[in-house]
Amino acid sequence: MAYENLLLSQKDTVLTITINRPDQLNALNKNTIEELNKALALADVNPEVRVIILTGSGEKAFVAGADIKEFAAFSVEEGRMLSRRGQKLLFDFVENMSKPVIAAVNGFALGGGLELAMSCHIRVASDNAKMGLPEVSLGVIPGYGGTQRLTQLVGKGKAMEMIATAGMIPATEALDWGLVNHVVPAAELIAKCEEIAGKITKNSPSAIASAYRAILSGFKKNAVGYEAEIKEFGLCFGTEDFKEGTGAFMEKRKPTFTGK
Ligand code: COA
Repeated sequence: MAYENLLLSQKDTVLTITINRPDQLNALNKNTIEELNKALALADVNPEVRVIILTGSGEKAFVAGADIKEFAAFSVEEGRMLSRRGQKLLFDFVENMSKPVIAAVNGFALGGGLELAMSCHIRVASDNAKMGLPEVSLGVIPGYGGTQRLTQLVGKGKAMEMIATAGMIPATEALDWGLVNHVVPAAELIAKCEEIAGKITKNSPSAIASAYRAILSGFKKNAVGYEAEIKEFGLCFGTEDFKEGTGAFMEKRKPTFTGK
């Protein structure tokens, strides 16, 4: 199957999916989210695939976030739908896959990019990777599960600091925080992911799927948090700060927020 924004390659039973919009730093637009859903759904039912590696094209970015240009003019209702649909098609979808998905974080993983990496089961970063949830600098909040999954991975204190400062942390700090499992030189990133995949493919696919279902079942009680995130994300689209934040990004200037 041919995709506009994805490249697929398979080695033995390991499928690598590369998000391929390097001139837009692999930002997740509607089409890319739909294509990822399609490719992942096919991989999930394909007996020839045991592990999936997800990465970004080019040397600069894994994914620099949701596509800001695409949603800047959205209404509150469209904002809410963007979040709900994205969570269903991609972020919850990845987390609930029956096969391990390894994020090979090869550069910037910001906003929806970090949210995508956090939806994966295992994260490996290159030493030049940078991670953050910069949404509040645009007048919006993480809407693809970031308020929930970041808190699960690094704890409430660090999550509240990272989200409110909109700051980026380097890969080594992400390793200290437990946000990624390994950091390796950029040239060794895919080899490291393939090494982990090689260990996984020796084991029982059905037992791994069972173990993942069991691990995730403990987090299901947090469903209310994801709903709250969708609602709050939508509300941001009705603020002056959102118009200022996204406008400033597109005009390549610093925003001035009023809190309205
Ligand atoms: N959505 C849409 N386009 C994006 C994007 C995003 N999230 N991130 C980057 N791009 C685009 C830029 O607009 C630019 O496009 P242009 O050449 O058509 O103007 C292109 O990708 C290259 O990005 P640029 O900003 O020129 O690269 P840089 O090296 O100067 O900065 C970043 C890199 C990642 C720091 C910067 O692109 C950035 O801050 N991106 C947004 C991150 C973000 O806020 N993500 C959360 C979204 S909710």
